[in-house]
Amino acid sequence: MDTLEMRAMPDTGVMENRSQFMAFVSDSESEELIKGLVQQLLIPHASIQRGDISVAIRQLEEVRSPPLLIVDLSDSKMPLQDINALADVCEPGVKVIAIGEQNDVGLFRDLMRAGVSDYLVKPLNSSLLQTAVVSSEEGMDTRIGSKIARLSVFMGVHGGVGASTLAANIAYHFSSEFKRRTSLLDLDLQTGVSSLLLDSDPVSGLLEALDDPRRTDSLVVERLASKVDEKLFVFGSETPLERPISSGFRGMEAFLQEVRQQCHFVVADLPRHLLSPAAQMVRSASTIVLVTDLTLAGLRDTARYVQALGALQCPGEVLVVANKAPDSRSARFKESEIREQLGRDIDFTVSLDTKAFQDAELRGEPLIAGSHAASRQIKAIAERVSGRGDPRRTRGSILKRLIGR
Ligand SMILES: Nc1ncnc2c1ncn2[C@@H]1O[C@H](COP(=O)(O)OP(=O)(O)OP(=O)(O)O)[C@@H](O)[C@H]1O
Ligand SMILES: [Mg+2]
Repeated sequence: MDTLEMRAMPDTGVMENRSQFMAFVSDSESEELIKGLVQQLLIPHASIQRGDISVAIRQLEEVRSPPLLIVDLSDSKMPLQDINALADVCEPGVKVIAIGEQNDVGLFRDLMRAGVSDYLVKPLNSSLLQTAVVSSEEGMDTRIGSKIARLSVFMGVHGGVGASTLAANIAYHFSSEFKRRTSLLDLDLQTGVSSLLLDSDPVSGLLEALDDPRRTDSLVVERLASKVDEKLFVFGSETPLERPISSGFRGMEAFLQEVRQQCHFVVADLPRHLLSPAAQMVRSASTIVLVTDLTLAGLRDTARYVQALGALQCPGEVLVVANKAPDSRSARFKESEIREQLGRDIDFTVSLDTKAFQDAELRGEPLIAGSHAASRQIKAIAERVSGRGDPRRTRGSILKRLIGR
């Protein structure tokens, strides 16, 4: 494997440890041409490798995606399927130029429809290649702007029902099982427990970034998140209790936009009293998970929050999770009574298992990593929240899948 690493000019790639450009090509002629172009355009942090799209997919599962990527479909038996598999592992916002040997208008159209910026037929020609690279750069704003991480919001309908525990477990599952870059955003800025649950230390500066849009830049994940591992980032804060928290969230939109461009999933843990100040964020979520227990107050407030989300015109799917559910013998309400109270069904139930959760908390390792009944129940929620299990999800479109909702 031949890799050309260029450090032509300093840029953010050094701090981010991210290539600005990657190409995976199967023949030496294309490889030489692309190397020449990279040198000519002074593209920093470029990596050009020999290999087809399957090599690209394997590698991009492990490393950060570059903003611009060239992949070779020459050896691909099912190019469209391969492009979709690539879309699945790429971070949102990646531009893809495909090259190949098939001169087929149908394929070209399919690839464009799937979100590929351009398709060039071999043998490559340097001026066409340059035009494709430059115009993909120029078109970046419109294309990238609409491709963002899937956002889910977790909210407990009253205190201590386990909303933060579920949010942290699900974020962990997205990163460890799905191997996708995931940010857990703990908006309980004074007493949030996400960092504790994932055994990490909060980094200061989140509160300021949420207050002031000027505090957000492309390095916000590197600067303000604590890195649990290569794929999991926790934004949290232990803001002094005596300090007032301004709840305007004037910087929230800019902050979220940046984070959502850099991850596949964002999981937000939202204290319920912040629903109204964070309404804009909740409106942009694919899924809002209301966590309750099976008490009368829990059921009453779940119904009220479902109504409030409707009044705030939140288009995302609202899921109701009954956590800490006792076994059927100790259940206080029958299913029909619950339905009557809520005016709808409960979507998921997670069993009460105090010992298992306490042990997990002590280990600083989320329960979902184990094999308890509750772990399996939380995994089912994770599948649904990720959108993977959604039968309505359109296959065949890289663009839609990168958009995430
Ligand atoms: N299914 C469960 N069985 C037993 N204990 C659980 C379960 N789910 C969560 N817990 C425990 O409940 C406690 C409260 O959980 P958590 O902090 O996630 O609740 P919360 O809804 O976020 O609370 P807050 O209102 O303070 O934000 C924790 O000790 C957690 O381990
Ligand atoms: Mg909480």
